[in-house]
Amino acid sequence: MRIILLGPPGVGKGTQASNIVKKYNIPHISTGDIFRANIKSGTELGITAKSYMDKGLLVPDEIVVSIVQDRLAQDDCKDGFLLDGFPRTVEQAEALDIELDKMGIKLDKVVNIDADKDVLIARVTGRRICKECGATYHVINNPPKVEGVCDIDGGELYQRADDTEETVATRIQVYLEQTQPLIDYYRKKGLLLDVDGTKPIEEVFRTIINSIE
Ligand code: AP5
Ligand code: MG
Repeated sequence: MRIILLGPPGVGKGTQASNIVKKYNIPHISTGDIFRANIKSGTELGITAKSYMDKGLLVPDEIVVSIVQDRLAQDDCKDGFLLDGFPRTVEQAEALDIELDKMGIKLDKVVNIDADKDVLIARVTGRRICKECGATYHVINNPPKVEGVCDIDGGELYQRADDTEETVATRIQVYLEQTQPLIDYYRKKGLLLDVDGTKPIEEVFRTIINSIE
């Protein structure tokens, strides 16, 4: 199974991705997570990425594309993968097409999850993430059993540096200008599945799975 998850900041890509990859036993490739891991370990890539992410801007295409190319070449992607947050520009999508052609493989589905701006802002500003395992919660929609503590491993929950109301507004604007054109790009290829991201987490998941199978 080769899937792309497309959608604005906070719509639930990461939440759905973690359930989908469990079901199909495929790697979850989130370019945002790759950058955050590099920021945490202080690499040069992390320093560069942070300068864009903190402002809510996209990391330049050539950097992102080369990371995804390397990742897709790894053994665990042979039988499938889920791309979360990539591609995000038409240039990235075209580069991915070239790469997949070279590898002799095709995408199965591009899942476009959507929701209104006020929903996105509420989700992003209420999001909390486990420092240890990366599990994602929401203070209202999906709270942990004990405030500030991960249900899975007891890890401390934190807020992403780019999850402020101001940065989210920029991220949504960037999404509308640079990423939204990909909806038509993949619709024309007959790969698009539109999903209403305002529905409960379980319902969104079932809609995606039913359409894939
Ligand atoms: P990235 O990490 O990809 O962030 P994003 O696209 O802004 O999306 P988010 O991760 O914020 O949201 P999500 O859709 O995953 O939502 P989640 O499931 O967590 O990218 C960050 C930055 O990295 C970018 O701004 C850019 O700088 C850079 N970058 C990354 N990829 C790049 C690329 N390809 N090119 C260039 N730059 C790139 O859910 C959000 C909250 O809502 C959670 O609290 C969750 O519990 C809750 N929730 C989820 N679903 C539901 C539901 N159905 N109902 C109620 N609550 C829900
Ligand atoms: Mg995410």
